[in-house]
Order: sequence, then C-alpha cells, then structure tokens
Amino acid sequence: MTKDKIPKLLDDAIKQNTHDIDVITRHLKLPWLKLDLDFGVWDDTDINSMMTSDDWRTKWKFPNRLKNSYQVKNWNGKLLFGPENFDDFLELSKASEHRHDEDSKCRIYREKFNYGWHEESLLSKKINSVIPNHDLNLVNTYVLPSGGYIFPHRDYTMDNMSLAKIYIAVKWSDGNVFGQYGCGDIPIKQGDVFLINNYTLPHWVSNGSGNDRIVIDISANLHSVKIKESIIRSFKKCFGQVST
Ligand SMILES: [Fe+2]
Repeated sequence: MTKDKIPKLLDDAIKQNTHDIDVITRHLKLPWLKLDLDFGVWDDTDINSMMTSDDWRTKWKFPNRLKNSYQVKNWNGKLLFGPENFDDFLELSKASEHRHDEDSKCRIYREKFNYGWHEESLLSKKINSVIPNHDLNLVNTYVLPSGGYIFPHRDYTMDNMSLAKIYIAVKWSDGNVFGQYGCGDIPIKQGDVFLINNYTLPHWVSNGSGNDRIVIDISANLHSVKIKESIIRSFKKCFGQVST
C-alpha cells in the first residue's frame, strides 16, 4: 500500500522542525533549565578571588538602594567581566533603560562598548574554556553570607528574554533557597549550572545555611556553540526527546 502524499507545508513542518534556541529561551517562559556545561572544579583560589564584603550594587549606582534596604540583607559581589568604560556605559544605560536588570543592559549595549575582564584570574580561563570573550556580556559574582536574603521581586528586560541567566552554584550548602513563585524552589545543588528565568515570575533568595553562598552569574550569547548544545540537550532531557 502506498502512503498518501501529504501537503508540502505539513511535510516541510515534519521534516524541518529542529530545536530553536530563541523559542526555548524567549517564548516558552520556562522558569529554569539545568545545563550540563562543565567549567571544571572551583578550587580555593577561585573562591578566594570571588569573595568580597562589598555590596555589588554600589558599583552600579542603584538609585533606591537605601530606601529599599530592608528588602536585601548582605548581598555582596563584584563585576568580573563587562563594559570596559563602565562609567560611560552606566550613564547611557541609566538615561534610557534604568528599569532593566544588569544582565539585560549588558546584552543590549554589547556592540556599543568594548567589553573585557575587569580582573584577570584563573577563573576567567575556566569561563573562557566554555564561553569565548566575544560571546560574554557580563560575569558577576554574588556572595550571600549566612542569614542573607533578597525579598520577592521581579527583574525586567528589554529584549523579551525569559531563560537568560547562566547561574553557577560555586558554594551552595543545604539551607539555601531560590524560590520561584508558583514553581517551588529551583533544585540547585553545589556545583550545578542552571539557566534561570528571572523576568517572568517573582523570585526570592535566602541563605539559611551556616556558610557563604557564592554564585557566578553570566549573561552570554546563548547561541554560543557549547551553550546552545547544552540548552538543546537539557530541553530534550526534560521534555522526553532523548535520542538513543
Ligand atoms: Fe532577581
């Protein structure tokens, strides 16, 4: 028996329906996706280079930081990779897009400024082994000491992204919470790499452990080869299209 010829449009759809990074990361509004990117092991030298007791928002000149200080307790960190002429970048981004988060600003102005490492360390080499400089927009570390927290809030973006933040749990003891409204807690364990959507739902963080919680936040071109491949593998794993 011969199979009936199906319309070309349907035939094309069936044969050409590949995974589209933009559909997965912009349109689906998934709250998170665990990635299998391998940055190696974060040793004591790396951790020491990330440690700081400085509030990361000071560098970004947050306008309402003191007024809203009750919403954040001990949220420290530092900029490792971003716009080289940071003051000019801040001035431009504040003038036009002050409501958008730092990852988003660094994505939007990627072609307007030169970007580079603000601190050279072994850590930069580990990140560059997965993501080359030309695909990086921002690398920031966040250190939340024991007892630190961030109130429920939403972040805003100007480019319709949802899954955008590459989030590496360098030091993450039991008792840490990263909640996403209506979805429970993101199941993060130390060493994990997640792609997180901080734009769609309210979310919050609390360090109920006795140790510092240290993460690396990366904004990058998600079409970068290793990232793209990892997103597609993870998507297939989550949604049941694992090839044998
Ligand atoms: Fe947030």
